[in-house]
Amino acid sequence: MNTSIGIGVVGAGAMGSGIAQVAAQAGHQVVLFDSNAEQLTKSEAALLATLSKLVEKGKITEAEKEATLSRMVYANNMEAFATCGLIIEAIVELLDVKQDVFRKLETIVSPSCVLASNTSSLSITSIAAACNIPSRVMGIHFFNPAPLMPLVEIIPGVATNMDMLQEVKALIAGWGKSTVLTKDTPGFIVNRVARSYYGESIRMYEEGIADFATIDWALKTKGGFRMGPFELMDFIGNDINYKVTETVWEQFFYEPRFKPSLTQKRLFEARYFGRKSGKGYYDYSAGATMPEPTSDDALAHQIFMRVICMLINEAADSLYLGLASREDLDTAMTKGVNYPKGLLRWADEIGVETVVQNLQSLYEEYGEDRYRPCVLLKRMARDGKQFYASA
Ligand SMILES: NC(=O)c1ccc[n+]([C@@H]2O[C@H](COP(=O)([O-])OP(=O)(O)OC[C@H]3O[C@@H](n4cnc5c(N)ncnc54)[C@H](O)[C@@H]3O)[C@@H](O)[C@H]2O)c1
Repeated sequence: MNTSIGIGVVGAGAMGSGIAQVAAQAGHQVVLFDSNAEQLTKSEAALLATLSKLVEKGKITEAEKEATLSRMVYANNMEAFATCGLIIEAIVELLDVKQDVFRKLETIVSPSCVLASNTSSLSITSIAAACNIPSRVMGIHFFNPAPLMPLVEIIPGVATNMDMLQEVKALIAGWGKSTVLTKDTPGFIVNRVARSYYGESIRMYEEGIADFATIDWALKTKGGFRMGPFELMDFIGNDINYKVTETVWEQFFYEPRFKPSLTQKRLFEARYFGRKSGKGYYDYSAGATMPEPTSDDALAHQIFMRVICMLINEAADSLYLGLASREDLDTAMTKGVNYPKGLLRWADEIGVETVVQNLQSLYEEYGEDRYRPCVLLKRMARDGKQFYASA
């Protein structure tokens, strides 16, 4: 891989533009291409505005701004990628469209050029399968907005050359990002492990245990989460959040832990997307008042314990199944979704035995597979073990 020559980015939407900015600010020549010329013009104007704002705030100098801008090439054809050493694709989330782009790229770039996808939900292996050299294909999953979010998940497909992958991981770390290595499974780390934050909260609402405001308040107060699940879903957009849930559930062969809710599906159908549409779980229209939570401490504790135990169960299962290392699982949740603590460290604090007891009593009460405690947690509780130190 020769990245001193340049980094290519396919797709100048929200993610591609952000990734291009990160690479250019890190000193690379960047070629940015989009099939929609208008989008490319918009992206160019947006980068100028962003960098100008950073100069105004004193975060970068005028000279740094000019240098970054001079490293950007806005290309109107893919042939401009010919000299790039790494290309990151960030186009529409459709497998056949991505595969077409990868096929075309292989006719343009050198055999040593690394081809990466920023996909959130497609398998890296299925994208690589379209290529003549699948060993050079990998996932490089940035979070939105790419210049601000520190986490990047690095994902090998079945055929990926692991030396090449480690080289790319080191390169991205050099851009000031926290990189974590994860297997090619649905949702990778963050979009899989975080599902219970939303799903279990909606479930408690559906059962009439508490309303949105009370659940949000409970998780912020007891857990120290920056945003409650309903505020966060409204912020992300119920269209995006619902689709991620549905995709992860389907791709895990309908695993009950990931089952979507009818509550969110109906909001999605009603186009109650959240902040961007003016209405979601909450009403954001002018003059609307936010509902007050029921400030009941015992209820807040119950809500928090149910959600945190489900989150820990997912993180523990991910560790047990070799999805990622203990450290990478914790880094992913603190850097990718701003959790106040890594979930495995949190398990140690709460006590693995307490977590298992909580899950076990939910499992017995509901009789649903969704609540089964992960075998790793059960063994650790039995043997008095902790994730970060032996008891
Ligand atoms: N938005 C997020 O929060 C987020 C986070 C992480 C990863 N992702 C992933 O990043 C990718 C891009 O997402 P986005 O939010 O930036 O989308 P977007 O809709 O903002 O941008 C996609 C861009 O790709 C362009 N495009 C479509 N087909 C193309 C083609 N064949 N060749 C060249 N350009 C093409 C479009 O014109 C558009 O400008 C997706 O795979 C998505 O799953 C998104």
